[in-house]
Amino acid sequence: MTELHAAPVDTDAIEKAAREFRETFGAEPEGMFSAPGRVNIIGEHVDYQQGLCLPMAISHRCFVAARRTDTGVVRMRSVQSGETVEAPVEGLEPGAVDGWASYVAGVLWALADRFEGGAPCGFDLLIDGYVPLGAGLSSSAALECAVAAAVDELCELGTSAHERIRAAIKAETEFAGAATGGLDQSASILCEEGHAILLDCRDFSTVSVPWDLAGQGLELLIIDTRAPHSLVGGEYAERRAQAEAGARTLGVESLRDVPFEGASDACQGISDPVVHKRSRHIIGEIERVREFAEILEAGSIREGLERIAELLNASHDSLRDDYEVSVPELDVAVDAAREAGAHGARMTGGGFGGSVIALVDAEMVEDVASAVQSAFAKRALAEPVFFLAAPSRGAGRDR
Ligand code: GLA
Repeated sequence: MTELHAAPVDTDAIEKAAREFRETFGAEPEGMFSAPGRVNIIGEHVDYQQGLCLPMAISHRCFVAARRTDTGVVRMRSVQSGETVEAPVEGLEPGAVDGWASYVAGVLWALADRFEGGAPCGFDLLIDGYVPLGAGLSSSAALECAVAAAVDELCELGTSAHERIRAAIKAETEFAGAATGGLDQSASILCEEGHAILLDCRDFSTVSVPWDLAGQGLELLIIDTRAPHSLVGGEYAERRAQAEAGARTLGVESLRDVPFEGASDACQGISDPVVHKRSRHIIGEIERVREFAEILEAGSIREGLERIAELLNASHDSLRDDYEVSVPELDVAVDAAREAGAHGARMTGGGFGGSVIALVDAEMVEDVASAVQSAFAKRALAEPVFFLAAPSRGAGRDR
């Protein structure tokens, strides 16, 4: 039997974080907050070109137990790392802390101008995260968004969801130094239970789209290939630069402005073969998202299943061949899942490692997972980890 790793029951996780908080800080938390990781169902490497994405929140969340203090210091405790890191709240600057704590301190830094009369008091924050690390499921966005929810509520900042998204993005890109594109933080804050969101990265507006997997007898199987994955590395930044070069060559602000009809002619104008392929991926991927969302808006997932599978598969193939962000582990998982009967499978997230998603009939989950497991064993690859993802709620206060 292949093991499927489940997220903890929320109420248990909240109790545990509160207990850990009391043990660490010797006081009661003032509030309990959490934010989810995400999978992007389709729409990859388009957010930084003002494209369309279709993410859903997963059941795995990051929990934060929090209270304000009058010390002027933020004390951050991570259950996963076993470390406590401290920093003065006033005068926080990028570089003040690093590692996981930079995602926490970065949010305080990004919200600094919201604190009337200068920096506030201090904070004690206990972090217990269940979004798998390094799996391309946005554990860092979950952490940032849970902290943003905590600081907003406890300090009564009254920020809008979009202000919290901007603060989380700023924390990640400017404080932690990972130049990502905004998909992850938007998904973690705006997603809704039972739904995916059609995210328009031109203005980060969203439309909620029904994504009732369970009601349709379907499951989204997440396969964490455990191939090492890092976005701070140069490959991601290089893809962004190539996409910008494509837009510049075509004389548009972003590749979103190139209509799909006529795109292949337009791309002929890009003589650099690499920039050509990258641009072709982005323009095609935006169109795939548009079509995917239309199918979901028009009827049930089941009714559109055949085309949905084709779109998922085409997305992966384009990321593998044109965008070149896949790695052998991702391709092995995708191929094995498709052969075992998945209704489409693709890498999700930034790539260069991380996870694959496969849409499967509920009764086929075991078969697909064990086919992927055998394919990995046959190639002597590290054993993958399997999760099921129910579309979950976005960031907020739990208690
Ligand atoms: C990572 C980034 C996102 C997005 C995806 C690719 O997850 O954090 O902003 O660019 O890669 O779609």
